[in-house]
Amino acid sequence: MKKQFLDLGYQPLANEFLSKYTNKHKKYRLKIFFDYKSKLVSISKKIPSKEMFTNKYPYRSSMSKTMQLSFLKLSKEILKRFNPILMLEIGSNDGALISNFNKKKVIGIEPCSNLAKITNKKGFKTYDNYWEINLAKKLKRKYKEIDLIYSANTLTHISDLKNVFKSINHLLSTNGILIIEDPSLLECLKKNSYDQFYNEHIYLFSVLSVKNIIKEFGFEIFDLKNLNTHGGSIRYYIKRKSNKKFKISERVKQQIKKELKFGLDKFSTYHKFSINVKKSKNKLIGLLSRLKSRNKKIIGYGATAKAVTVLNYCNIDNSIIDFFTDTTPDKINKYMPGKKIKIYKYNKNILNKVDFAFLGAWNFKYEIKKKEKRFLDRGGKFITHIPIPKII
Ligand code: TYD
Repeated sequence: MKKQFLDLGYQPLANEFLSKYTNKHKKYRLKIFFDYKSKLVSISKKIPSKEMFTNKYPYRSSMSKTMQLSFLKLSKEILKRFNPILMLEIGSNDGALISNFNKKKVIGIEPCSNLAKITNKKGFKTYDNYWEINLAKKLKRKYKEIDLIYSANTLTHISDLKNVFKSINHLLSTNGILIIEDPSLLECLKKNSYDQFYNEHIYLFSVLSVKNIIKEFGFEIFDLKNLNTHGGSIRYYIKRKSNKKFKISERVKQQIKKELKFGLDKFSTYHKFSINVKKSKNKLIGLLSRLKSRNKKIIGYGATAKAVTVLNYCNIDNSIIDFFTDTTPDKINKYMPGKKIKIYKYNKNILNKVDFAFLGAWNFKYEIKKKEKRFLDRGGKFITHIPIPKII
């Protein structure tokens, strides 16, 4: 049984950046539910992948040094620990991970053809298809078996999880390894980062829920790693139960203990979270309004999907935030989805006349603070809403 604990109001598709502002932007009610049985947290309305992941998808994983470094480190670890003959990445984006591997030993799956084109051009075989059983069957006919499947920040975007794992089960070799990586529900609740919820993020995983989902396909988590990426993520190392080569690490047991201690298995925890979310909204509106009434110039730094949730939930528009700045080519000169706030191309002088910069990309706080030393030295300040709205 599922029960609603949070309502973030009407939200546009968080990556639908339009060149012309319209107040008729298509919006969907974003309600969040907890499933008592599977412990899975999900959004109510599941928008078809074909509407969200198009040939104009702007998000580029190689836009940040933090992500590039994280993928480089992981690629070294994969080679050392598992040394796969053939590996596949579901949701390879612009190749931030696969470009660290030998072209003959890696295949990408990326439904957004604008992104698949980038890696295909570089010589990395990339299928511009959605991940589902027919594709897995086609790949099995062609490649026989894959001994490592990796997917970061993708499986939580696909509504039919059974199809996802059935397809993985079909293609992965007997002793094959599955590694998935997604934002951590525990970190989201601890940081009060309600902006992890948007129409693309259908699920927010925990060890408790992943364990339940994969059980039915004969898979189990044998190791995990807590990561700083995306505001706190978990990398799950998964194998078939029949594979006795790897023991279940103590880290898995410890994480389950932590999740249970925090109450991820109880509805009351989510209810408490929803109260904190409402408080966060009021506090952020109060803080920004006070600064604005003192004629301060506020801009947004990082036109993230997360910021789209915040702007639309808190109803913040260009009377408060003058503009956003971002480095992603496909976001430049467009509008923040659902709000009349323009996005300008980042340059090192963009913060020159700015008093406050709201961190849309708060998950890159350290990288950004280092980059904007000049802004900070002349008295400029960043604002974050994580874990509570404040000037930093
Ligand atoms: P991310 O936090 O991964 O966002 P999402 O919520 O959309 O998943 O994306 C970071 C965004 O911030 C991306 O659009 C690039 C931008 N960015 C900058 O503009 N400058 C920077 O220095 C950094 C680190 C990110």
